[in-house]
Amino acid sequence: SIPKLYEAFHGCFDIGAAVNPRTIAQSGDLIANHYNSLTAENEMKFERLHPWENSYTFEAADKIVDYAREHGKKLRGHTLVWHNQAPDWLFQDGEGGPVSGETLLARLKLHVDTVVRRYQGDIYAWDVVNEAIADEGPELLRSSPWLDIAGPGFIAKAFEFAHEADPKALLFYNDYNESHPQKRDKIYELLKSLLSQGVPVHGIGLQAHWNLFDPGLDEIRAAIEKYASLGLVLHLTEMDLSLFRFDDVRADLTAPPEELLELQARKYEAVFNLLREYKDVIDSVTFWGAADDYTWLDNFPVRGRKNWPLLFDENHQPKRSFWRVVDGR
Ligand code: XIL
Repeated sequence: SIPKLYEAFHGCFDIGAAVNPRTIAQSGDLIANHYNSLTAENEMKFERLHPWENSYTFEAADKIVDYAREHGKKLRGHTLVWHNQAPDWLFQDGEGGPVSGETLLARLKLHVDTVVRRYQGDIYAWDVVNEAIADEGPELLRSSPWLDIAGPGFIAKAFEFAHEADPKALLFYNDYNESHPQKRDKIYELLKSLLSQGVPVHGIGLQAHWNLFDPGLDEIRAAIEKYASLGLVLHLTEMDLSLFRFDDVRADLTAPPEELLELQARKYEAVFNLLREYKDVIDSVTFWGAADDYTWLDNFPVRGRKNWPLLFDENHQPKRSFWRVVDGR
């Protein structure tokens, strides 16, 4: 018989999945059986919840919250501040020019108040700020309307607003390339500075969009150690293990080659053995999807390229990655 994935990690960390209306419909049993934490893949992003200044669209997000409640799943909130999937009106004044920094922060406060209060008691952790750090170059922060209009203070403000709205929620800074040395050091610097200013931030989200080659285990370990040294809780928030390097053009595969599935199983096993070592600082590991029949990595970033990055195959059966992860020690 097939063990429940999250039960295999009982006493270590929660095991989550990103879900959306489609995967709840087509993978509901799998999700209910194997994951004890959920994240809305898109439905709680700014443009989805708040497409126009004076109206909110909560229906899809509410359904995910109801599903989590009915099935007794924990829920992570994703995400309050991001440069992607944010509506144009947010950064514009009535004439289509840029808003003032003051207005942008006032809009942020209203949004955060409304959303965080609505889901208070259901959502226990929020990705408050997503991907604010620059990948390359000497700059700490990525250029974005948030930074360009409101200045670097938008980050601290977002955490303060979220904390005011729900003092019990755990508040996370979330980012990708989080195990690359340069970005790791920048994330560390940002968080250290927020903590020294007394900003209410409680954790770091490591997106963990990884592939067979990159990052290496030593880099993952170094990132975990460095972040943990700040005394923060760590969540892996969007894990998947792509079979391909980021922009490898292998658009022709219709089934995953056996040798790549074997390499994937080995890497998953090694990664989870490492994560188990850090169970005292890692409280949650969420996959960015439930099974290989639907993953955001299909067509991204290479159009026409199918991917198989998760622990369950397209028929919702456990892959060899699943067995290595569950049996590993
Ligand atoms: C992705 C979703 O999976 C896609 O469906 C959507 O088209 C784009 O966003 N980092 C994040 C997530 O923080 O919100 C992203 O989710 C994946 C990368």
